[in-house]
Amino acid sequence: MSDKKLWGGRFTKDTDKQVNDFNSSIAFDARLYKQDIEGSIAHATMLGETKIISKTASDKIVSALKGILRDIEAYKVVFDIDAEDIHMNVEKILIERIGEAGKMLHTGRSRNDQVALDIRMYLKEELATVENMLNSLKFTLVSLAEENVDTIMPGYTHLQKAQPINLAHYFMAYYEMFSRDTERIKECYARTNTMPLGSGALAGTTFPIDRKFVKEQLGFAKLTKNSLDAVSDRDFVLEFAFCNSLIMMHLSRFAEELILWSTNEFGTITIDDAYSTGSSIMPQKKNPDVAELVRGKTGRVYGDLMGLLTIMKGLPLAYNKDMQEDKEAIFDSIDTVKLCLPVFTDMIKTMKINKEKMFVSASGGFTNATDVADYLVKKGIPFRTAHGIVGNMVLYCEQAEIVEGIENLSMKEFKSFSKLIDDDIYDCISMESCVSKRNVFGGPAKKEVLKQIVSAKKRIGG
Ligand code: ARG
Repeated sequence: MSDKKLWGGRFTKDTDKQVNDFNSSIAFDARLYKQDIEGSIAHATMLGETKIISKTASDKIVSALKGILRDIEAYKVVFDIDAEDIHMNVEKILIERIGEAGKMLHTGRSRNDQVALDIRMYLKEELATVENMLNSLKFTLVSLAEENVDTIMPGYTHLQKAQPINLAHYFMAYYEMFSRDTERIKECYARTNTMPLGSGALAGTTFPIDRKFVKEQLGFAKLTKNSLDAVSDRDFVLEFAFCNSLIMMHLSRFAEELILWSTNEFGTITIDDAYSTGSSIMPQKKNPDVAELVRGKTGRVYGDLMGLLTIMKGLPLAYNKDMQEDKEAIFDSIDTVKLCLPVFTDMIKTMKINKEKMFVSASGGFTNATDVADYLVKKGIPFRTAHGIVGNMVLYCEQAEIVEGIENLSMKEFKSFSKLIDDDIYDCISMESCVSKRNVFGGPAKKEVLKQIVSAKKRIGG
């Protein structure tokens, strides 16, 4: 028999060195040590309570596990690659420390339900962290919105100037996206909050365990209901990876705009020096590296999701070792999001908004053309006809090189397009009025945006 492995009883040879390294996951699953030990403490306590093992053995295991946890946190433990993964490492150390009692810990349990438990516990903590980071970002967005209810900017479609809006409305658009991300994270948390221990390798256990006791000890909301599903389910891991992908997609779109706006051509924002970097050759350069890296890292978070989806797609029930590959992907996805959210939040907090330039930019490109058409509609002209008239005005302005905009036409010129146009047109198509008249629920009018800000502040407790 091979005496190196905890599972070595039926083996006649040692594991090939290459296979040993190939199979081992301790290099990346060591980060589950806390959850693994807390899960084992709950399991051992339950084994004692139900008299499956003696109270003395249970107490001995629990106190030794606490000691192992302390020692790991004090960097006193060196994990062993030969012990394969975090579960076997902890069990091995336990047996080394307390002997026979330690050998009782794995009664009525398998690594398959153990790893499912550990990941769920780990992800619950990380979901809460990501939720907090999203809240800080949303809080920042609301503050920026509050400061910019009177900052007029050009709204775009097709990256062509479309209609003026205020910058507050723009920030609140991202607030909405990150609010949906928060909802998704909470929903993912609810599904992750299910306790799988007791499912065994695949078919539960013959011991009279108390799953409810373990669930309560570990603060889970409910129990998994099918042992086969419980050990082969990684939906919650995939969901988290998807939530992260959407968070990154939102950050990336935002980053793309900030990169564009900070160019010399746009110049509507200036990213703070502390959040920019220089060039090794061009002395004048100030590059938006933070925003670019956030955009770039979105690719790897998508990659993590695609990897996870692909790992799971062909797996027969129940556990398969392929599932060990879930960890690096989800850890990387979480680490990346946790890296991006705070730095992005601080970057937008510190960027300078060039309000004057934004206003000038909003005024160009005939952004009030729809408002001229709406003006004509209110004077009794059908919208499609009004659209044609204003189209002709834009063409006239372009040909006459009146680039500043329709509001620069004289009354005589206006009348040549429609007799219905009067002096009130000038007020009606000013940038301020174009924005303030868009006062539908969810629209960019200051009054409406302020309502959204108030309700957002209530929702994030700001
Ligand atoms: N390290 C393994 C994983 O991450 C733990 C479960 C191993 N189970 C097994 N039957 N080999 O998935």
